[in-house]
Amino acid sequence: MNKIEKVKKERKEIIADSSKKKPNNTHIDEEVAKQKSIYHTKIIDMKEETNNVKTFTLSADPDSDTPYLAPFKAGQYITIHVTINGEDTTRAYSLSSSPSEANKNKYKITIKRVKDGLVSNYMLDQVKVGDKLDISKPAGEFGYQPIIDEDNVIAIAGGSGITPFMSLAKAIMEGIYDCHLTVFYSVRTYDDVIFKREIEEINKKSKNVKFIITLTREEKEGYLHGHLTKEMIEPYIKEFNTILMCGPKELYRSMNDILNEFNIPRKSVRYENFFVEYEPQEKITYHVKVVMKNKIEEITCKNDETLLVAMEKAGIKAPSLCRVGECGYCRSVLLEGKVKMIGATLKKAEIENDYIHPCVSFPDSDIVLRLDI
Ligand code: FES
Repeated sequence: MNKIEKVKKERKEIIADSSKKKPNNTHIDEEVAKQKSIYHTKIIDMKEETNNVKTFTLSADPDSDTPYLAPFKAGQYITIHVTINGEDTTRAYSLSSSPSEANKNKYKITIKRVKDGLVSNYMLDQVKVGDKLDISKPAGEFGYQPIIDEDNVIAIAGGSGITPFMSLAKAIMEGIYDCHLTVFYSVRTYDDVIFKREIEEINKKSKNVKFIITLTREEKEGYLHGHLTKEMIEPYIKEFNTILMCGPKELYRSMNDILNEFNIPRKSVRYENFFVEYEPQEKITYHVKVVMKNKIEEITCKNDETLLVAMEKAGIKAPSLCRVGECGYCRSVLLEGKVKMIGATLKKAEIENDYIHPCVSFPDSDIVLRLDI
């Protein structure tokens, strides 16, 4: 029996065994569920950027065993852990402060209200200065990478997609990176512009960083008007470029068409991905059995929600970080059933061993899932 056959046999035994056991729906053991690499922080400042956007300054909380915060690179994100109405969940937000702030044990995240968004509404409406907030260490590969990236960096931002580029702009201003950055920032109206004051200051002071703002639904002096076009970007394209994009899907689609006209190689273009959507033709609710080290839980999951969200709603503290299929932190084994997995990056061996990323997996049948907690 080869290794894969052996693993499959073991799985069959787990499934057979799990159907004999009575599901245990008691809350899972706190210690077992404890996430790795949690930093305890305190919110020490909140700043209103627009009607629907706030920047939160987080500081290390030595009283809760976190004397220091980890260093980070511009473009990385942290994941915040919150409990809202009894539901434990996480969300990833790009760091908007300079990496040098981490030396002072401070991070900044900037959060935009999302319609019906559980976490964004909670953060904007209920959280106050002095509250504690558990976060992950910084993660992610988005942002400027001096070894592989070109000196001419064009950033394309839409809405709250400006946040990683504010961090990068500050890092360049402070001499952490030696490159030239032009940020094209597309928003609906002047009132939607995040970081107005910082952008003005940077545009005044820096030779290496320039923000160009286009308002898609308003005309105003000093601002471009309309969606980004080839003509707007063309003057800033050099022989070699690195293109970084962060914003809504529609922006990526329209920009891809424009970038194709400049013949920019695919390897020079990177996207920050923070959305996972799947719209099934027919709405179905499936049965999901979650097999953990010491417990089994039986829950339901609609086919337009991810397995991760369904587990969180049911009170299961499933591991998660990026929530967009990239980091692999939520990796679990699909023991039985089918899922639609959107945008996950899995290695060949992971696919052969039936691993899935529940953060981007939508059920396509009843499921048996093994979770290593
Ligand atoms: S949480 Fe990162 S891959 Fe699922």
